[in-house]
Amino acid sequence: MNQERREKALWIENGLVVDPERDLIERKNLLVDGGKVQVIYSPGTAVGAGERVRVIDAAGKIVVPGLIDMHVHLREPGYEHKETISTGSMAGVAGGFTGLACMPNTSPVNDDASVTRFILGKAQEISLLRVYPVASITRGQKGETLTDFEDLARAGAKAVSDDGFPVMDRELMREAMERGKALHIPVISHCEDPGLSAGGVMHEGRVSALLGLKGIPAASEEKMVQREISLAKETGCPVHIAHLSTAGSVALIRQAKEEGLPVTAETAPHYFSLDHRAVIGYDANAKMNPPLRGPEDVEAIRRGLADDVIDVIATDHAPHTHQEKSAPFEKAPFGIIGLQTAVPLTLALVREGVLTIPAALRKLSLNPARILGIGGGFLKEGATADLAIIDPDFEYNLRAEEIRSKSRNSPFIGKPMKGINQITIMGGRVVWERDADHLGG
Ligand code: DOR
Ligand code: ZN
Repeated sequence: MNQERREKALWIENGLVVDPERDLIERKNLLVDGGKVQVIYSPGTAVGAGERVRVIDAAGKIVVPGLIDMHVHLREPGYEHKETISTGSMAGVAGGFTGLACMPNTSPVNDDASVTRFILGKAQEISLLRVYPVASITRGQKGETLTDFEDLARAGAKAVSDDGFPVMDRELMREAMERGKALHIPVISHCEDPGLSAGGVMHEGRVSALLGLKGIPAASEEKMVQREISLAKETGCPVHIAHLSTAGSVALIRQAKEEGLPVTAETAPHYFSLDHRAVIGYDANAKMNPPLRGPEDVEAIRRGLADDVIDVIATDHAPHTHQEKSAPFEKAPFGIIGLQTAVPLTLALVREGVLTIPAALRKLSLNPARILGIGGGFLKEGATADLAIIDPDFEYNLRAEEIRSKSRNSPFIGKPMKGINQITIMGGRVVWERDADHLGG
């Protein structure tokens, strides 16, 4: 091994170490070397700092497996004015992520192995975190012809999805799920019935009536969640439901899981943190698809997370420029960024008793890793050293200057937050460090 190029070993002491796989949170010290977690020691053991070892004092912090976001829009190729793989990776490591799955609604669409390879090549050059391309289910995301899943998987795609659009043709979706199962490629469904949602810009309810904006009914999502569940039942093929937002969807997934069907689901932090009242004032940073729903939906999403009906917290990080988002509410594009707010918003759920810390990490790391069939999400000896060191008690107002994404379309900017990622380690290398003065080592 080339000694000169070898990273310094890391000794991470005094932190609360979380292993979501074994449901553990314990005070431990870690030795990271050669890209791996080498040994986990009981508290009290010590190692001297030296040329070969950097000591990181994690007192008061939690040391967790690197977060994995299975739903991100990195916008490259084609929309580099919103985000690039480089700026998206920066925002990811700042937020505590060591893995991102990027959605295919780029230009060109990731419906061809050449696009998948392009994304992976860029990610490799940047090398801040691991990028897992999600290819499209249908060519051009048009919902007409399936892509070549096998070729895309060979090029490195880890899942398929037409995210942004539903696959309306039931037979085509059935075929996609069957191929996905045969090739071990997860199929991720964007549940929306355009017959019900067309022209809508926010949740259909009291607030849309008040504001005079056209609504997107809960049924638009639920009808398609119902269809995907029925396909899973008929075929025995797994399906993963993206960005769950309504109480009815949670009830449907709950029922499907009780029946033992191979259905998994994700939600995003905005769906458990905000409701449709955030749209009052016509702030386009409260506009996303699916939309912020009613308070009873928010409550059901939280319950769904607590009961493990919802497996994953993914951000649906969807960067758009200030100019695009400054258009009148009805014209502005759907979507908000989320990579740097997932940690504080999820820790709020922990403080409110909805999730334990290990359960939160299952949703932010272990479960997405399992669904995508990639490594990661656990913290034990021999594991790849993809880690985040999080200060759960740090209080601050989220400032726009802290945002590492190219776009700043977040309704949480200027809002008080508690909990922040301090250090991100990918493959044993420190790839992000916030406020180094306060960290020691
Ligand atoms: O809010 C959203 N933004 N929902 C989507 O389905 C697509 C995404 C985007 O690409 O901006
Ligand atoms: Zn999305």
